[in-house]
Order: sequence, then C-alpha cells, then structure tokens
Amino acid sequence: MQIILGITGGVAAYKSAELARLLVNQGHLVRCILTEAGARFITPLTLTSLTGEPCYGANPDQGEWRANPSIEHIELARWADLVAVVPATANILGKAANGLANDLLSTVLLATRAPVLWAPAMNTGMWEHPAVQANVTRLKSFGHAVVDPGEGFLACGEEGSGKLAEVASIAEAIQVHGSPKLRSLNGRRVLITAGPTREDLDPVRTLTNRSTGRMGVELARAFRDAGARVELVLGGEGPAPWGVETVRVHSAQQMLEACLARWADSDGLVAAAAVADQKPECPSIEKAKKGDGPETLVLVRTPDILAQLSAARRSDQWVLGFAAESENHLDHAMAKLKNKGLDAVLVNDVQDGKGFGAQANTLTPLTAQGAHPPIGPLSKDQLARAVVQWWAQRLEARPD
Ligand code: CTP
Repeated sequence: MQIILGITGGVAAYKSAELARLLVNQGHLVRCILTEAGARFITPLTLTSLTGEPCYGANPDQGEWRANPSIEHIELARWADLVAVVPATANILGKAANGLANDLLSTVLLATRAPVLWAPAMNTGMWEHPAVQANVTRLKSFGHAVVDPGEGFLACGEEGSGKLAEVASIAEAIQVHGSPKLRSLNGRRVLITAGPTREDLDPVRTLTNRSTGRMGVELARAFRDAGARVELVLGGEGPAPWGVETVRVHSAQQMLEACLARWADSDGLVAAAAVADQKPECPSIEKAKKGDGPETLVLVRTPDILAQLSAARRSDQWVLGFAAESENHLDHAMAKLKNKGLDAVLVNDVQDGKGFGAQANTLTPLTAQGAHPPIGPLSKDQLARAVVQWWAQRLEARPD
C-alpha cells in the first residue's frame, strides 16, 4: 500500500517513527506529512531516513517533492491508498470533521478519496470533551476508522484515557482499513476454529498436540481484512488478532459448545483447529500420584466439531475443513470431504514435522471436483490471504 502518515503535534509523535518503520518493514511505501506542531516533536530527517521517501512540511513550500508544488496536496491525495494520522490532536480532528483546510495535511485529508484512519492521543479531559467526541463521531460517519486511545499515564502527568494506542495495533488497523473488501465476504460472519485443544488428565497434566494456532489466526486476519466479521474460537495461548471477536477455549467439548452457540448466525465455518481426537475416560480431580492405579490410560473420543456443525448447516452456509495428512494425502482428504459433508478441504502435508510450527507452508485445496493447484509455499500470513482469495472466487462463482 502507499500510505500517507500525517503526524500532528503531540508527545506521542515519537511513536510514529516506530510505526513508519514497521509499515515499511511490512512492505508498504510511506510518505510522512508533518504539521507545524508535529515538526516540533520529530524531525523530517528521522522520517525520511526510516521511510526512504520524502517527508513533507506543513506548507507547500516545505515539501521535498517538487513535481508540481502548486497542486502538491492533490498529487499526494491521489498517491495515497490510505491516509493515517498518528498521533491525531484534538485540533486536526476538529478541522477534518468540519472541512477546514489551512495546511498540507488538512488539505490532503479533504482532497483524498482514499480511506482515512485516525489514532488520537491527548489529555483525558480533552479526549472526553463532548466537542472532541462529536468530531470523532462525525469522522466515523464519513467512513473513517478511529483507533481509540488506551488508558495509562499521560505525558501531562494525569492518568486516564488518551494514550496513543499500541503501534502494532495501529499497524494492524491500517492493514484492515486499507485492504480491498471482497464482495462475497464483505459484512459476512465467518466462524473460525484455531489452535490445539487440551484434554486434562489431572490438574497439571494434559493431552495436546504441536499446533501453534498460527494458520487459523492468520486466516482470521485475512477474512477480517477481506471485510468479514470474524469470530475466532481459539485453543492455545497465542495473542488474539485485533478486530476479531476471540473466544478462548481449552478442551474439544468447550470448542464445540462455543461453536454451536455461534453457528446459526454464521455464513461460513473454517475449521483450522487441531482438535485432540481423544480424551482420558476418567480425568482425576486431584493430581495423580505415582502408583495410584493402573499405568494404562483409557481414552474416549472427543466430539468431531467440524462434522457436527456441517451436519447442522443450512443450505446457505459453507464449510471449509483442513486435513493434516502424512501419507496418501488426497485420498484421505477426499474421504474427510465426503464423510464430513464439506465444501472444500485444505490439505496440509505434515510428514517429517512439516506444517505444524513451520514458517512456510503449502496447502492443496480439494473440492468434490478433485484437487486444485497447490497454494504455496508461502509464509502463513501470505498463505492465509491466498486461501481467502481462492475461496472468495469460488463463492463469487456460485449461483445465488
Ligand atoms: N476436526 C474437528 N473436530 C475433531 C477432529 C477434527 O473439528 N474432533 C476438524 C479439524 O479442525 C480439521 C478436520 O476436522 O478441519 C480434519 O482433522 P484431522 O485431524 O486431519 O482429521 P480427523 O477427522 O480427526 O481424522 P484423522 O485424525 O483420522 O486423520
């Protein structure tokens, strides 16, 4: 993406340098615009060094880009795929909410047709003032995104809301707001299971597997970026992705209950969790002692979440499953597709430890028509985006 990063006058301006670097590392082109007050907190040299792109001052004659200085704000407004203002002061929020434009950043904000995102930072009293809140509401009504400030100690010595949101959350919000929405997924509700499940033997011992949950979490991000409203039912410990409603579960039974409670309101299911297929028949309430009983563990089956949800689905709901296979991949996966009544299976080769915990991975989509060209090898975030594209195309080709 080509991103304009507007930096206004606040102590948190130093964090926009970190944000600029993070966005560049993620592969975006970033051009910064400093307001007059912003330039008192951070220098253009820092920003050009981090972005490798020109940094613009408050007025047209302060820009480094001299292609056509008289209409610089229009050129920049057109160049941008997204405009983010980080940190945003009460002043710039007020100007943009009311269509005022008297410097480069405010004129770009008025001229651009790109999505706009705000990350405000200010004193608690200012942030909570009805005038500022009314301006934020107005900006949201224009379709702008706002990453609300967090709570904490503020530079003014007060404690409360008004602290700039975490840089990683702002970068994630930029990704969400700037990604093109896919027609078949925009506004749709997608339920995703991810991560390992754990079946307790006693209060300290558990049966689990080597899944990290990363693929499911990246799929949640990719569906979210495509416009879906994602609910993630997550086993394991990993952090929840921004902008995704996440429910934490421990066992297969808990995962099933969390999914059943949400399934009727969902348009589709992606079962990416590595669910433990068995659990101890008689888990011990107290920590089991050596020699307490027979050394043989009796296991019983856990519920098959994917099969149960698929069996309960309406004709307008779609279901995607995964198949982790170490041999005879396509035959086993086709059996799963048929037995569980799925629209597609993403086949994951887990021979020799591939797939679980690996950085790059390949998935082969399989539908009733047979195997499709493999997707990958790609890093899990890119793979997730490619899978979402592949599935959205199939949804769009389906008759209504
Ligand atoms: N799955 C599930 N609930 C289970 C087991 C599996 O929802 N109790 C889902 C997984 O999330 C995945 C698919 O079913 O989408 C296939 O999982 P996999 O473990 O590969 O297959 P199983 O059906 O468990 O069969 P097997 O272990 O015999 O290969």
